[in-house]
Amino acid sequence: MNDMKRIGLLTSGGDCQALNAAMRGVVKGLSENTEELEVYGFLNGYKGLIYGNYKLLTSADFSGILTKGGTILGSSRQPFKLMRVPDENGLDKVEAMKQNYYKLNLNCLVILGGNGTQKTANLLREEGLNVIHLPKTIDNDIYGTDVTFGFQSAINIACEAIDCIHTTAASHNRVFIVEVMGHKVGWLTLYAGMASGADIILLPEIPYDIDKVIEAIDKRTKAGKGFTILAVAEGAISKKDAELSKKEYKKKLENYKYPSVSYEIADLIKEKTGIEVRVTVPGHTQRGGSPCPYDRVLCTRLGAEGARAIMEEDYGNMIAMVNGKIKRVPLGDVAGKLKTVDPDSQIIKQAKYVGISFGD
Ligand code: F6P
Repeated sequence: MNDMKRIGLLTSGGDCQALNAAMRGVVKGLSENTEELEVYGFLNGYKGLIYGNYKLLTSADFSGILTKGGTILGSSRQPFKLMRVPDENGLDKVEAMKQNYYKLNLNCLVILGGNGTQKTANLLREEGLNVIHLPKTIDNDIYGTDVTFGFQSAINIACEAIDCIHTTAASHNRVFIVEVMGHKVGWLTLYAGMASGADIILLPEIPYDIDKVIEAIDKRTKAGKGFTILAVAEGAISKKDAELSKKEYKKKLENYKYPSVSYEIADLIKEKTGIEVRVTVPGHTQRGGSPCPYDRVLCTRLGAEGARAIMEEDYGNMIAMVNGKIKRVPLGDVAGKLKTVDPDSQIIKQAKYVGISFGD
């Protein structure tokens, strides 16, 4: 047994399943191995750390939350690029976070979040604070870890949405588009699409040609298949748009008449084929509900290793899954990098081999 530990916890950015499971893992691991533990939960992400809004929690607060979605601490988006910009009252946010950390005499801050959150965690590390980062996001786009928590749970939800669409698509001989979250990457769409038998999968990493999409629909129609299902990533982009400069693309979006890319694709398919098209957007349902068993186990393992790192006073790392093993990865090596789907990867080749079209 070791002496007292005083840690801060916060969850930042968009929520996802298993945030509570991960915090529980850390706190359980520490409770088992310290004489005395003080846990300060900062409310609503970095906002709580900046403005000193926190709750002193006990191990009882972490009981019964393994299966609970959301986050018991609340979350908010605090863009990394604004961290160095004073707030509306002139407050220096980075300085304020440091002051609150020192005031509470913390041994370490355990920060749960995605890419932006990780960049701020790295900034705090550079500023001299002890931090540990746990990689959460349904997008699975954090560089340096095989998988993020939330991803598998979100696949289940997106997959179920597409499964349900399958029966109605078949009854009506329609084309159905299901738009999947994932921000600028296609992991969630790729896995949910493959798992649910989508015929066409459109990802940001593989810009599509609408004529190839139509070709794939025609091929199915000619083969006597009355319906086609597309899994479209919210960040999917056409070849034409991918060739635009950032400025030109921004201008296009300013005058965009569609709520999202799926509706534009739907219009084009209808115009070119005459087939009825319907769009379904499961949206934030993909971040909701109870974490799946895989995420519960992953978070218990990440939490345990996070606690072990704190006991060993080994800070400044993301606790990650690397080639199936839980490892500590230096934040300085990964912060600011994005993990995207490689268009030449095995999984894409295998998907194409079984006839899935990526519209390229
Ligand atoms: O990063 C998670 C995510 O759900 C993305 O997939 C999506 O683009 C974004 O967050 C939505 O953000 P918000 O909850 O702020 O609308």
